[in-house]
Amino acid sequence: MTTKPSILKDLPADLDRERLPKHVAVIMDGNGRWAKRQGLPRIVGHRRGVDALKDLLRCCRDWGIEALTAYAFSTENWGRPLEEVDFLMTLFERVLRQELREMMEEDVKIKFVGNLDSLPKTLRAEIDRSVEATQNNSGIQFSVATNYGGRQEILQACRSIAAMVQDGKLQPDQIDEGLFEKHLYTAGICDPDLLIRTSGEMRISNFLLWQVAYAEIYITETMWPDFDRQAFHVALRDYQQRQRRFGKV
Ligand code: IPE
Ligand code: IPE
Ligand code: MG
Repeated sequence: MTTKPSILKDLPADLDRERLPKHVAVIMDGNGRWAKRQGLPRIVGHRRGVDALKDLLRCCRDWGIEALTAYAFSTENWGRPLEEVDFLMTLFERVLRQELREMMEEDVKIKFVGNLDSLPKTLRAEIDRSVEATQNNSGIQFSVATNYGGRQEILQACRSIAAMVQDGKLQPDQIDEGLFEKHLYTAGICDPDLLIRTSGEMRISNFLLWQVAYAEIYITETMWPDFDRQAFHVALRDYQQRQRRFGKV
């Protein structure tokens, strides 16, 4: 892994260890604009975006955050030019292959959320390999949303629950939030406490629609490739100043 020098290796002193989010989710946006600003092709932004993600994962681990979920490719991103889509799929595959050893050393447990069936076969094979290899790791839970759409996720949960009802294994009145969550891709992972979106866009873009019901949302103008430990520190400081009421007073 290429890492920046070990700046902010430890949790910054102004953050309260007891009040860290357990689960951070990130919409990694702005790779293309980051590249364009430097007069570079968009794909360079995606490459730099991978470096930013690797350092954030390591930072979460260093600072004691239990789970990180990153939005890597949405169900809508297939609408991009073919060359960009191809580049991204190849990039994901290569990164997975290259990083598996280090994920093992760092005790990362990787999971993929999304409809994986329509991904290229070779990428699918790397995904299966990394998930299987890391399944007994007990460090940070790292979820990568790939070909992920929140609506699509909810629909596939509905389909599988409807099939259980049809087979007589379940009564409609047994369908509650707990059961529903078990049919989402994110089953077994707690909801995100903090949702970060880079590049200033104020939207959810079909990410974790069910799960972000009570997430604190933090939006920064910083483009994803520039989102470093200092930027994450600022986001966490902001988060710790929030009062989470969950509808109460
Ligand atoms: C986010 O950066 C990465 C992916 C969606 C894969 P973008 O590629 O959306 O970058 P911008 O938003 O065009 O700058
Ligand atoms: C969201 O970014 C998807 C990912 C970060 C993978 P987009 O760039 O695709 O979102 P929109 O199009 O600005 O909503
Ligand atoms: Mg974008």
